[in-house]
Amino acid sequence: MRNSIKSSLSLGLWTAALILAPGAPAVAKAQAGDGRDAVKRAAQTVAQMTDAEKIVLTHGIMPLPIGANPPPVPADAVPGAGYVPGIARLGVPALTETDASLGVSYVFGLRKDGATALPSGLAMASTWNPEILRRGGAMIGAETRAKGFNVLLAGGANLMRDPRNGRTFEYLSEDPLLTGVLVGHAIQGIQSNHVISTIKHFALNGQETGRKFADVQISDAHARESDLLAFKIGIEIGNPGSVMCAYNRVHGAQACASDYLLNTVLKQDWGFKGFVMSDWGAVPGVEAALAGLDQQSGAQLDPAVFFGDRLATAAKADPRYAARLDDMNKRVLWAIYNAGLDTHPVSRGGAIDFAANSEVALETARQGIVLLHNPRGALPLARTAASIAVIGGYADTGVLSGGGSSQVQGEGGPAVNIPLGGGSEWSPFLAEAYHRSVPLKAIQALAPKAQVRYRDGRTIADAVAQAKKADVAIVFATKWASEGFDQADLSLPNGQDALIAAVAAANPNTIVVLETGNPVAMPWLDKVAGVVEAWYPGARGGEAIASVLFGETNPSGRLPITFPASVDQLPRLVLDGYADLEPNFGGAAPSPDAKLVVNYDIEGSDVGYRWNARKGQKALFPFGYGLSYTTFQAEGLKTDGTTVSLTVNNTGQRPGATVAQVYLVTRSGEARQRLVGFQRVELAPGEARKVSLTIDPRLLADWKDGGWTRAAGEYSFAIGENAEVLGAPVKVKLAYRHWKD
Ligand code: GLC
Repeated sequence: MRNSIKSSLSLGLWTAALILAPGAPAVAKAQAGDGRDAVKRAAQTVAQMTDAEKIVLTHGIMPLPIGANPPPVPADAVPGAGYVPGIARLGVPALTETDASLGVSYVFGLRKDGATALPSGLAMASTWNPEILRRGGAMIGAETRAKGFNVLLAGGANLMRDPRNGRTFEYLSEDPLLTGVLVGHAIQGIQSNHVISTIKHFALNGQETGRKFADVQISDAHARESDLLAFKIGIEIGNPGSVMCAYNRVHGAQACASDYLLNTVLKQDWGFKGFVMSDWGAVPGVEAALAGLDQQSGAQLDPAVFFGDRLATAAKADPRYAARLDDMNKRVLWAIYNAGLDTHPVSRGGAIDFAANSEVALETARQGIVLLHNPRGALPLARTAASIAVIGGYADTGVLSGGGSSQVQGEGGPAVNIPLGGGSEWSPFLAEAYHRSVPLKAIQALAPKAQVRYRDGRTIADAVAQAKKADVAIVFATKWASEGFDQADLSLPNGQDALIAAVAAANPNTIVVLETGNPVAMPWLDKVAGVVEAWYPGARGGEAIASVLFGETNPSGRLPITFPASVDQLPRLVLDGYADLEPNFGGAAPSPDAKLVVNYDIEGSDVGYRWNARKGQKALFPFGYGLSYTTFQAEGLKTDGTTVSLTVNNTGQRPGATVAQVYLVTRSGEARQRLVGFQRVELAPGEARKVSLTIDPRLLADWKDGGWTRAAGEYSFAIGENAEVLGAPVKVKLAYRHWKD
């Protein structure tokens, strides 16, 4: 059944969570301090610092046996991503840093303790629900604290410029508004625990291939209207203590030594008060301090500790470095004081209620699963099904998760762990790992009378034989993704397409459950009865999947990324450098003569659905797409281009949630699609709800002449069932307006 939304729904920014759903919990306050007193306190502390103390907070180590000469691990360090010593004389705590956006990372089991794995970023973003992102952030922030960390390297907010990017699973979406609003709420939740969150990787880190030297070419305007806008919105909402700069180059400069990104955009234009920490092994030299970098992270991964004695020497010789050194310390201290790290010190061994925390992961997964295909209403499955064949995807053991620094594992570690080979010291970080949440068990629990048989799917004939005998066949198809390398294309690996086609030929009642970190192609789509995209569904993913399959949960996920009909639709047929370069997950900074130009001005700020709108292309499944087991309708759109109102109805027989989307569709007659607002609305059968929201004016404007410029003219807005199915446009005449951010 398809949802039908007749006219426009309108949504604004995160204020929606406060206005639209009466009774919804108000969004938590960002964090302890309001920032003003932290500025003063930071200045006071710096004024007391000795020269030697001024280079303590400016660089840190990776307290793990990693790198050519791993440094000794201090007694107060916690095995994890990073450690920056404190200054006991001045009451400044050490910074104990852990990854990342999906929970406290497992660092390949070195600490032997587990944590609660949220579903992947894609799954979280598919909820289009800022409140659940905040709840997830609050939960992983609490586990961060309980394990003795006071910095969570979270807030992955890079736009998905290419669906083959290896870290797509970690990030949120292809759209700056959706990304910024959701990451901002996640950061609010994290920092509500008096720990610092980052937002990362600043900026334009759009691929893993050649990630340490991919040199992004993009105009200031295109960057500000897309990737930078996502960061700006995320910083406005989340107020993160730190921005992590990226590995890649922008206009020839390493992002962590980019005067344009760090000084001009982040600090001067945006007035960011926190500190810029580098990514690990991303610092080219001490001159990065003048470009706006405040802290060198994981210094053993760089050619040298630039921000220690070398920085002190530079500061003695050059007043520019001396001024920067004070500013660097003030920024780190602002973040410490503003989040309350000194007044709320962390300690290891804090109590963690894993049962309660996993409920947050479960609810996020339930809301993030996307029903893509259900032409004959084969879903939800009847609990009375007599026989069910479950095939492939380790569905008898666990659910897949993404590889790299964001990898989280529960107590006892992964159920399945297939390390990537290659012998690099980083290989243990890169493992195809499955969480201990078993779809087969969850299916059996919801269909207790059914005969449920599992086959691993390695032998097609065996899988087909089982499918033939069953009332319904459920094929679990997986595609592993990881930091450190990109995907070659959109296909499912390991012969899964052939497996699905063969099973569907044997049993027309075949359902495909995808556990993927990226959009995938589906050559078998019209042969199957249903497709569910479960992404990497986290610590309780098996139950979430079964809950949707049997209708205990009415799916409400909407795609935060376009599923292209083929790679021919993409701005670049092959990812830049993919054919010629090896994966380079870790390792030292690249040699200065390593070259890889990536031209993002091809698509500019028209990323994803915007690109399809510009090219008149139809996706396999468009941005914002998702089906439900009920139907919805919306009517009565009214807008003046600033505020919008309308009503949403559940016209079906079951409770459910839809995500209404409002788009700018044309500007003075020219096609220009921009998501300008969204709101997830839960409704009982027959229930109607009025919605009124505000459109962020930056989404109607271009970045021109050093500010936002909204041209005078006629703007048309429409509701989206998704980015391609748009309701009747409503036209508004708007005047010229120019303003700073
Ligand atoms: C990595 C990642 C970054 C992570 C850091 C520490 O290589 O790019 O996201 O936070 O190193 O592990």
